[in-house]
Amino acid sequence: MRGKRILLGITGGIAAYKIAFLIRLLKKSGAEVKCIMTPASSDFISPVVVSTLSENPVGIEFWDKNDGTWNNHVEYGLWADLFIIAPLTANTLSKMANGSCDNLLLATYLSMRAKTLVAPAMDLDMYAHATTQRNLKQLENDGVHVIPAESGALASGLEGEGRMAEPEIILASIEYHLNRAFEAILDRRSVLITAGPTFEALDPVRFIGNHSSGKMGYRIADELSSMGAEVILISGPTQQKVRNRDIAVIQVSTADQMFKEVQKLWPMSDFGIFSAAVADYKPKEQEIKKIKKNKEELSIDLVRNPDILKWAGDHKSNQQTLVGFALETNDLLENGRKKLISKNLDFIVLNTLQDKGAGFGVDTNKISILDSHNNLEEFELKPKAEVAKDIVSYLKTYLEK
Ligand code: C5P
Repeated sequence: MRGKRILLGITGGIAAYKIAFLIRLLKKSGAEVKCIMTPASSDFISPVVVSTLSENPVGIEFWDKNDGTWNNHVEYGLWADLFIIAPLTANTLSKMANGSCDNLLLATYLSMRAKTLVAPAMDLDMYAHATTQRNLKQLENDGVHVIPAESGALASGLEGEGRMAEPEIILASIEYHLNRAFEAILDRRSVLITAGPTFEALDPVRFIGNHSSGKMGYRIADELSSMGAEVILISGPTQQKVRNRDIAVIQVSTADQMFKEVQKLWPMSDFGIFSAAVADYKPKEQEIKKIKKNKEELSIDLVRNPDILKWAGDHKSNQQTLVGFALETNDLLENGRKKLISKNLDFIVLNTLQDKGAGFGVDTNKISILDSHNNLEEFELKPKAEVAKDIVSYLKTYLEK
């Protein structure tokens, strides 16, 4: 997003208060932001907040009533790399669908050369109304991308579809549309990702699991999807959510369930990124009833789980690229190299619990990547979303070689 020019149009709905967060997210990701507001939107969010956060003057009227300065809508249209209108009210939607032009935002829409995205927000009955749905269809036919409203509590007190997509979702969609054109090597390629822990049941209430948060795999899924890849994420139990709604998420609990899904999907995937912390063992027997504490000592027999990544490596074609992870407590490089070979990987992402801030449950990670040509690249300690970018960028370079 660094240096990308985002024009943000704000219309008059209660969801406008969330736009402050969206501007912050855009600025944090390195984008340049300019905002235009409909006159009605300033009842919901102050132009002072918008101009302060965006670090640019805000356009509201065609000209400044004090000094006559003209706000040039054509210039806005030429300046932007992407135009996002959020929140989009039913009123502005209907005007856009019909080509009306009675304020600066609408004139800018008609002058826009860049891709336009909209995030509608309204009450559930307004959103469901045939007119609104027809107008949204019209916008889509005109080449606008609609970020669908979400379901949940609405300002009216009612509950239903109509809430503006959360700022994180809007940001992911902006990144997706900006990157799409540039990442031909990933565009429309299918990627299979595993993430999270597996839970191996002992009885109906207990399981053997681990501390994997799933963060790494989820952020890689977001990153690849924002570059145009078609991502299927097979996830063990985690609190994580994907930011990009184009990602298909398959929830599983055990290694056996994960394996079944991988066996179905790997043959039709271009790339596999296996970041799940799969339990190596599962209980030999699963008790039907809760185990009672009537013995001083209890032993549980464990049996090996399938090595899912090894299976994928054994069934890899020349057209497929496979990436694994290794978390080691000692002899990282040597163990990593062994895994790379035995699992037939293209590259392996290495991390150790010995690095502070790396590994399980934390927000940061410190990785090295070892590839099948014996190249080793070491990375700094970074937030996992940044690490995901490094891994995807390594994948791109690896594919281009
Ligand atoms: O052999 P080890 O478990 O250390 O290898 C880690 C890598 O193998 C990770 O990429 C993990 O997702 C994958 N793996 C797997 N199935 C297993 C064990 C590990 O896919 N049963």
